[in-house]
Amino acid sequence: MQYRTVHVEASRSYDILIGRGILAGLGDFIRPLLGECRLAVLTDSNVDALYGGTIMEYLHAAGYSACKYVIPAGEASKCAANLLAFLNFLAGEQFTRSDAVIAFGGGVVGDLGGLSASLYLRGVKYVQLPTTLLAAVDSSVGGKTAIDIPAGKNLVGSFYQPSLVCCDTALMDTLPKEIYRDGCAEVIKYGMILDKELYDTLHTLPFDRDAVVARCVGIKRDVVQQDEFDNGVRGLLNFGHTFGHAIEKLSDFGVSHGEAVAKGMVIAAKVAPLCGLCDVADELSALLLRYGFDITCGYSAGEIYNALLSDKKRRGGTISVVLPRTVGDCCLVQLPVEELGCLLEKVI
Ligand code: GLY
Repeated sequence: MQYRTVHVEASRSYDILIGRGILAGLGDFIRPLLGECRLAVLTDSNVDALYGGTIMEYLHAAGYSACKYVIPAGEASKCAANLLAFLNFLAGEQFTRSDAVIAFGGGVVGDLGGLSASLYLRGVKYVQLPTTLLAAVDSSVGGKTAIDIPAGKNLVGSFYQPSLVCCDTALMDTLPKEIYRDGCAEVIKYGMILDKELYDTLHTLPFDRDAVVARCVGIKRDVVQQDEFDNGVRGLLNFGHTFGHAIEKLSDFGVSHGEAVAKGMVIAAKVAPLCGLCDVADELSALLLRYGFDITCGYSAGEIYNALLSDKKRRGGTISVVLPRTVGDCCLVQLPVEELGCLLEKVI
């Protein structure tokens, strides 16, 4: 079995394994990390329909006692009710501190599974098995876990690193085109913020999925190792996200995360030259269009500005935005919120 390994040194150190078909080796990968234990597989209805039977077979064949908990697919499942229900399920199954959670799905499952693992008995081990490109390159790595509450997305969560991330890239073959493309926005983001070579390879479609996932995860690893708890350089990963979150919110989440990030990256690239940085907006827009993204903002500058006022990254009168210095090199810039409002009027 061939796979790539990216090692993360954080408050818990772990490997990220990337390769086609590696799910079949899951039992062997987890045994040295988890020992003999019981496993609770958290997954969603879409993943369960396609691969729920397969993963249970692999775990049982490897000698594990494993049970499964399925939540409805979709962001609405990342909620307090499902968190409590899953914690109750673990308690009902009499899971102990030596047992573990397997989060098998996209970002919703990964975030909910990670948060549950961090809370149950004050912390049990967990393994991330991302099934979407977006989860593979972003949410499954770095230990951010969360649920949404009525006041906003990801407002309740923890930093809690997994024991292993095992990314079987063959599972992405069955993703709907739009869901796969969501992940492509994050991949382009990594190229823009820190890796021109990666960015340049993304002009060749389709890209080499395993190599690109490994590269993105390597970039995220380097950032997380410098700033696990998100007090500085980790903010670079938010390129396109400040404006993107505003667009997601304004659309009542009708615009997907990847689409919103693509639009947000273009807005940031247009703001950059107004802050004395170089202008890569046309170059970036051309690449995003090749991937089929609609890069029109869809909202007025005033609407975006008002949505930004409740952004987590706002501190008093300033807000932190990530702007490109050039392709492959972005920086964090603190701007007075009102000044950002004026800049938005000029670019939207
Ligand atoms: N998704 C951004 C981060 O993990 O910091």
